[in-house]
Amino acid sequence: MPGLIPEAVLEEILSRVDIVELIAGYIPLKRAGKNFKAVCPFHHEKTPSFMVSSERQIYHCFGCGESGNAFKFLIRHERMEFPEAVDFLAKKTGVILPQSIPQDRKTVNQSIQLYKVNELACSFYTQNLRNPEHVDAKRYLRERGLTDETLALFSLGYAVKKWDALVSFLRQKKAPLQVIENAGLVLPKDTGGYYDRFRNRLIFPIKDVKSRVIGFGARVLDESLPKYINSPETPVYVKGKNLFGLDLAKEHIRDNDCAVIVEGYLDCIIPYQYGIMNVVASLGTALTVEQIRLLKRYTHQVVMIYDADNAGELATLRSFDLLIDEDMRVKVASLPQGFDPDTFVRQYGIQAFRDRIDAAEDLFDYKLSVLLTRYRPKDVHGKAQISTLMLSTIQRFKNAVMRTEYIKQLAQVLDIREEALWQEIRKLKSPSVSTQEVPSAALCTNPTERLLVKLMLEVPDCIRRVKELLEPSDFQDAQIGRIVSVIFDLAEQDKPIAANCLVNSVEGEGISKIIGESVFSPDEVSIEDRDRILDDCIQRIRNQGTRLKRQSLHEQIKAAQHLGDDERLQSLMREFHHLVRSSQ
Ligand code: UTP
Ligand code: MN
Repeated sequence: MPGLIPEAVLEEILSRVDIVELIAGYIPLKRAGKNFKAVCPFHHEKTPSFMVSSERQIYHCFGCGESGNAFKFLIRHERMEFPEAVDFLAKKTGVILPQSIPQDRKTVNQSIQLYKVNELACSFYTQNLRNPEHVDAKRYLRERGLTDETLALFSLGYAVKKWDALVSFLRQKKAPLQVIENAGLVLPKDTGGYYDRFRNRLIFPIKDVKSRVIGFGARVLDESLPKYINSPETPVYVKGKNLFGLDLAKEHIRDNDCAVIVEGYLDCIIPYQYGIMNVVASLGTALTVEQIRLLKRYTHQVVMIYDADNAGELATLRSFDLLIDEDMRVKVASLPQGFDPDTFVRQYGIQAFRDRIDAAEDLFDYKLSVLLTRYRPKDVHGKAQISTLMLSTIQRFKNAVMRTEYIKQLAQVLDIREEALWQEIRKLKSPSVSTQEVPSAALCTNPTERLLVKLMLEVPDCIRRVKELLEPSDFQDAQIGRIVSVIFDLAEQDKPIAANCLVNSVEGEGISKIIGESVFSPDEVSIEDRDRILDDCIQRIRNQGTRLKRQSLHEQIKAAQHLGDDERLQSLMREFHHLVRSSQ
């Protein structure tokens, strides 16, 4: 567990070890330009596609996708546990490891303080909501169909329209300023002192499985933007590691042997209120491995219900492969265009929603039907595209009967021979030394986003420009978003950005692969071209974000028109114009 050994110590070790020398002790390396090359030790191959960078101190295999830093190499190649690898390299580099107990205790204490201050803030927000002075906030939630009981159950609250309401309250309760700041509840003022992060917003506390408050989401009372702002990451709140509502839903998930996964706060709260209680929200991102593992404690079956728009479809598709890798049974329920679970339940009632869940499609059918609308199944290229994308999912099923059955179905739908599909699926799966399946060698990330990460890693001066114009959430790939957010934080603190340290500090299975792909990607950018390419990438990512938002708004507007919901139409139009104006 990286958490128990201080980051600074890990970085110290990494700065002293030479990954080229380390790896050369296990396999023969050959120089290739400024990097080193070898036949990959993690999968069978004849021509070398395993690269080691002395400059960046990481390795990456273009054949099987395995990447990482010195620790990861020892973990994978020598089958060491993380602490063992740390110990091994600490000895080798002469770094003295601190006693792990006091550090452990310090982390625990810090977390306890954060939970406490979050709990206090939460009670302040819920109190505000009960105050007749803030009847507007209460009215808004009533209009969205929430009962008093639900407000209490989810501890919903209101942050008042003042700059220092929360900070004064917490100071009065003797909470240390440093802890309040670490909890992300306040921001420092240029002129000294602090101001409240959340003002004039509804508050949705985010709780962990044990019902401890770890962060907050805060929604505006109208349709202005940004609609939600959320707590930043803190030692107790790591995005992508929690599921909203899990503390309330977990027993129901176990009883139903199924979890319903939705996107937004209200998409979780409304169905829960009406009796579908095995529901959790992923909070607007694609599901992560950590979230799936949390669910796996209670069930192996999930039904995903994402917004019926392109962004929702993308998020759903992206989560599939992870879910299958984790042996989950996945179904997808769909809603009419323009609806999300919250608006659907309020429009058609909970029984209609239950029917949708019962009618959820198997993920195979869902993915295939999406692809059939995106590519032309009658056309040769269309057939090839659809089959490649379907096979990348099919090959993940560990059960041979399932793979065979799916291949049969796919062959029928595309009107091709099964044999051809078997041939293709074998190409995807190169033989591996371990029993583990080898990840696909295909580059897994959006090329523009990857190039931008590469530029930021190579030329720290680029970071400022990226930071001015993009937010981590602008990146479509949630994992790249996390890498970018850490890069921004490091840059803010004027800390050096080293690829090999990033591998440690951003958790997640795909992270080192993305960093590896970025560092070793063949896109060489010359100094003269750099600024132009940087600006192009930034512009492209900005466009892709607004394009998705525009598409989704457009669909919602059509639905509102169709339903004759004038009020919603008006607010959507306002949002649409705002978006169009701000992206010019
Ligand atoms: P949606 O835009 O679908 O919002 O984002 P929603 O949940 O339907 O919100 P309502 O119904 O208008 O109140 C889905 C989720 O994405 C995250 C939130 O977690 C939200 O619930 N999100 C969205 C943000 O974090 N920030 C935003 O600005 C928008
Ligand atoms: Mn909604």
